[in-house]
Amino acid sequence: MKTITEQDYTFQEWLTPEQIAKDVKQVAKRISTDYVGKEPLFVVVLNGAFVFASDLIRELDPAIRCELTFIRVSSYWGMSSTGQLEFIVPLQQVVDNRDVIIVEDVVDSGLTIHQLKAYLRAHGASSTRVATMLFKPNKLEYEDAKPDYVGREITDEFVIGYGLDFDGFCRNLSSVYKVKE
Ligand code: PRP
Repeated sequence: MKTITEQDYTFQEWLTPEQIAKDVKQVAKRISTDYVGKEPLFVVVLNGAFVFASDLIRELDPAIRCELTFIRVSSYWGMSSTGQLEFIVPLQQVVDNRDVIIVEDVVDSGLTIHQLKAYLRAHGASSTRVATMLFKPNKLEYEDAKPDYVGREITDEFVIGYGLDFDGFCRNLSSVYKVKE
């Protein structure tokens, strides 16, 4: 079993690259079915979602015409939430009348998605769905933030790798690691 040590915490491999690839494929398949004849705009929430987004869009049915843009917000530092959503990179693309798919690495309390959905609606998006690699249903505080496409559900554990960080580090790991008790 692979382990990683970061800032005095030990993390154990939880999802291998092969398991992740399988999860990504099933999400891509569902999106490809649901968006036939549409031209979705993927809004990727930096930084964490860039790895998942990169894999996800390449697994879509090639018949799906889509565009991609990025937004950067921040609500976390270390292991605890500040409860504040800060817009660091604002939306660059017009979302008016677009079917938007927000791409996340993890949906936790749902605060980020809750606020982003309101933001996108205010900018004229005709629909807003959410695709996330990981979802913590036990932590969800905002009902409208429940993701539509989920790679894998997890309980309330701290995870790193595959885009997810620990104070900025570990995003490069190709597996997902869980903190060891
Ligand atoms: C993480 C994650 C989501 C958000 C989820 O972002 O990428 O955007 O927290 O938490 P929530 O559901 O409670 O809002 P973070 O602020 O850590 O930034 P990062 O993507 O740059 O790591």
